[in-house]
Amino acid sequence: MKKVLVTGGAGFIGSNLTERLLNNNYKVVCIDNFDPFYDRTIKEKNIEKFKNSNNWKIYEGDILNKELLQKIFREEKIELVIHLAAKAGVRPSLINPIGYYETNVFGTINILEAMRNFGLKDMLFASSSSVYGNNKKLPFSETDSVDNPISPYAASKKAGELLCYTYHSLYNFNIFCYRFFTVYGPKQRPEMAIAKFANSILKGETITLYDGNGSTSRDYTYIEDIVNGLMNSITRLKGYEIFNLGESQVVKLSDLVNLLEKYLGKKAKVEFGSRQAGDVERTFADVEKSKRMLDYNPKIKIEEGIELYCKWLLSE
Ligand SMILES: NC(=O)c1ccc[n+]([C@@H]2O[C@H](COP(=O)([O-])OP(=O)(O)OC[C@H]3O[C@@H](n4cnc5c(N)ncnc54)[C@H](O)[C@@H]3O)[C@@H](O)[C@H]2O)c1
Repeated sequence: MKKVLVTGGAGFIGSNLTERLLNNNYKVVCIDNFDPFYDRTIKEKNIEKFKNSNNWKIYEGDILNKELLQKIFREEKIELVIHLAAKAGVRPSLINPIGYYETNVFGTINILEAMRNFGLKDMLFASSSSVYGNNKKLPFSETDSVDNPISPYAASKKAGELLCYTYHSLYNFNIFCYRFFTVYGPKQRPEMAIAKFANSILKGETITLYDGNGSTSRDYTYIEDIVNGLMNSITRLKGYEIFNLGESQVVKLSDLVNLLEKYLGKKAKVEFGSRQAGDVERTFADVEKSKRMLDYNPKIKIEEGIELYCKWLLSE
């Protein structure tokens, strides 16, 4: 039975992944500092059912705390690190760029250094589609230039990828970096568009589409597909690779709102705002490499995914 350290394991993606790892007989150690970016009670709920499992353990603390990382690697026989802990979200990174760099860049090098000290070389790293910035060539491919990130968050994720490459090159680490494309589904972060819109629609509150002229679009990826991509990687991890994990479908913001209305059974009150600094115009993943090398096969198209998400939300 493999023992995995999941950083950020109380968050949206981390808790969904943990559930699958435990179901597949992995032992999971989580480190999470319950960053106040969103309500702690949501993260407590995310991990509630793991507390009954003998194969799950949590260290509440910060990946910037080197002593804590040493303690975890000393006491737990970790075999693989899945590094998801980060300050997430584009717009808030414009307000707190230094905080984003501390967690996302210094936090990442702390993990890499702790691994090096304990002779551990295998890691999966959460990067982001935001590294593509406003690239014009579509769909976005792993071989495209990512030299023009337009938010501190995007720049911090690219910096993380570079550090991962350096540890691969210097010390033979095996690291796969994943550029996730807007992930949604049960437990989605409350400030992300789908969760935020859905909750506002249910409360009868007005939603603001910061969409400028209505042209923005996103490649939305259902959480189960992301988890499948990560799970498929564990036995294939070798060398250094970057993978897009997206659905490879483009959805306009207005169409997204229509789907939410349909599956929540309630009309949205909509107003428009101008495009926010740091927001990219569109995202669209080329997933051919992930299909070929990870047997990644994203299945949940947006309509089915929104239906599943709304069912979950209404049952909460
Ligand atoms: N959700 C998406 O659409 C998306 C898209 C691209 C990339 N990502 C990346 O995927 C990862 C997971 O994202 P998520 O949506 O689950 O976010 P999330 O905020 O729900 O999860 C991140 C977790 O990391 C923890 N954390 C933050 N700073 C920490 C620190 N200093 N020490 C320890 N723990 C810390 C938080 O408390 C949180 O539980 C992040 O790296 C994010 O940047 C997410």
